[in-house]
Amino acid sequence: MQQLANKRILLGITGGIAAYKAAELVRILKKADADVRVVMTVGAMEFITPLTLQALSGNPVHHELLDSAAEAGMGHIELARWADLILVTPASANFIARLTNGMGDDLLTTICLASEAPLALAPAMNQAMWRDPVTQANVGHLIDLKGSKLYIFGPAEGSQACGDIGPGRMLEPETIAGMAADLFETGLLSGRHVVITAGPTREAIDPVRYISNHSSGKMGYALAVAARDAGARVTLISGPVNLPAPDKVTVVPAVSAREMLDSSLAQLSDCDIFIASAAVADYRPLAPQGEKIKKSSETMELTLIKNPDIVSTVANHEQRPFTVGFAAETQDIDTYARQKLVSKNLDMIVANDVSRSDIGFNSDENAVTVFWSENQQSFDPRSKSSLAMDLIELIAHQFAAKQADKVVTQTQEKE
Ligand code: PMT
Repeated sequence: MQQLANKRILLGITGGIAAYKAAELVRILKKADADVRVVMTVGAMEFITPLTLQALSGNPVHHELLDSAAEAGMGHIELARWADLILVTPASANFIARLTNGMGDDLLTTICLASEAPLALAPAMNQAMWRDPVTQANVGHLIDLKGSKLYIFGPAEGSQACGDIGPGRMLEPETIAGMAADLFETGLLSGRHVVITAGPTREAIDPVRYISNHSSGKMGYALAVAARDAGARVTLISGPVNLPAPDKVTVVPAVSAREMLDSSLAQLSDCDIFIASAAVADYRPLAPQGEKIKKSSETMELTLIKNPDIVSTVANHEQRPFTVGFAAETQDIDTYARQKLVSKNLDMIVANDVSRSDIGFNSDENAVTVFWSENQQSFDPRSKSSLAMDLIELIAHQFAAKQADKVVTQTQEKE
């Protein structure tokens, strides 16, 4: 279940006897290194205590919608944005009915309404309640409304707590965790080698000082995880960041722009997709000093020289992979991004507004517009991990479309 590592799972628990199984599910998710936050309905707290789930998840449990203290900390909108997946186990008939009718009358339904994250429900109820045409109509309607963002896990058939036998039993926690993990595995990039640059570069002034920027590497690392989960072999060429190396991703450290360029070119022989999310320093000191510069005078002059453009070099290379750049802009974002798409010879460019503190550099969320050919697609603010999954899906589709075009052209040339 390595796909769950570092994934933010918002676990909703509603009122039903199967609520006790949520404790085991939290344990399994945590063991798989997922970050788990629990939201309980009033009914759920009749069956299991928030304290148990707080101890297991390592995070405070949320249950109040109109609680000013909770809203001042992580409120319902923050929770909605935070989640990579909302998993409701057990999902009662009452909860499904309220959700289907768009009711935001408690914290959990409100988060479900406010979130862009995929939603998975594990229904659990008496077999007659599950079979009831109203419940069946609610589930069917919810599937129609939510489309590909909704998953229904189960229910299983068997003997029930009330003594009945039939459909309505909640799936076992291990099965639910496995199904949740599968949601992060798209297989879209199976067999492909994806190379990603991430983080800042540092350009030495002397042995103790350097020029750099605010990039944390979070966007690039999230892309690496999403590409890995989509089945790719991933090489992450990383500037100096404080992030753990993602599982099953090859990390190649690089400090300066020139080191990052060398490491990038070394990957090109079998690279299918190159994604440049690193914030590469455009200039470096022309003559870095071998010894620490003494602060003798009031001012100091530094002559800078342009660094090589890594993504542009890759995009113009004879072994050119499908090349995706990022554009970090503070104004006229669309215009500058489109200009970079053309001037750097890219297949796609992902533009973000780095003048905002809530997205872009060093934040946990981002919002972007992606440009390619004459097309564009915007993604509202969401966690970098969730955004990375959407971006990898879009990139994989455009990559596949270009591959298909190449085959058609080659066939036509032969004829
Ligand atoms: O790391 P985080 O804190 O998560 O922040 C993410 C981010 C804001 C750094 C990321 O989303 C982003 O915007 N990365 C690109 C930053 C950047 O350098 O943008 P740019 O517009 O200056 O450069 C355009 C493209 O050229 C980028 O793909 C960049 O990697 C590439 N470039 C730039 C200069 C250079 N010498 N070589 C390059 O390859």
